[in-house]
Amino acid sequence: MIQFSQEKLDKVAEIIARYPEGKQKSALIPLLHLAQETFGGWLDVPVMDYVASLLSINPIEVYEVATFYTMFNMKPVGKYVLEVCRTGPCMLCGSDQIIEHIKQKLGIKEGETTGDGLFTLKPAECLGACGYAPMMQLGKFYKEHLTIEKVDKLLDELRMAATV
Ligand code: FES
Repeated sequence: MIQFSQEKLDKVAEIIARYPEGKQKSALIPLLHLAQETFGGWLDVPVMDYVASLLSINPIEVYEVATFYTMFNMKPVGKYVLEVCRTGPCMLCGSDQIIEHIKQKLGIKEGETTGDGLFTLKPAECLGACGYAPMMQLGKFYKEHLTIEKVDKLLDELRMAATV
């Protein structure tokens, strides 16, 4: 059964209380983030339904938002999600080659996860860091001015980190 711990429910109440009476739906995005990080890194339908029940809104209102933003995962993802920006400025600075290199190196296509469950490659649209192109988002961090060498080093470091 999908259920937040009491500690997380306290956090839910604190988030909802940030918004005016009757505007609890405004808490939807932060609650989806909390749900995603709590329930395995993605938003299964029962998880979205649970969030809807916490906000007393219709499940469809949650689906609309969750499926609109690429930061929410609609299927299981790896431990590390490589969100490589492919919008104009990043593309002009070589994001295509970065994406191609990651695909070759990890043996996956865009949107896929490696067999060991470590990496998901997820192309993203502009992440607001065009001045640091080409770039990717990795969890809460931005990795900027990417090169093939930097990507190789990053993947090695993440692999190492996953084994300790
Ligand atoms: Fe890549 Fe804006 S185009 S961050």
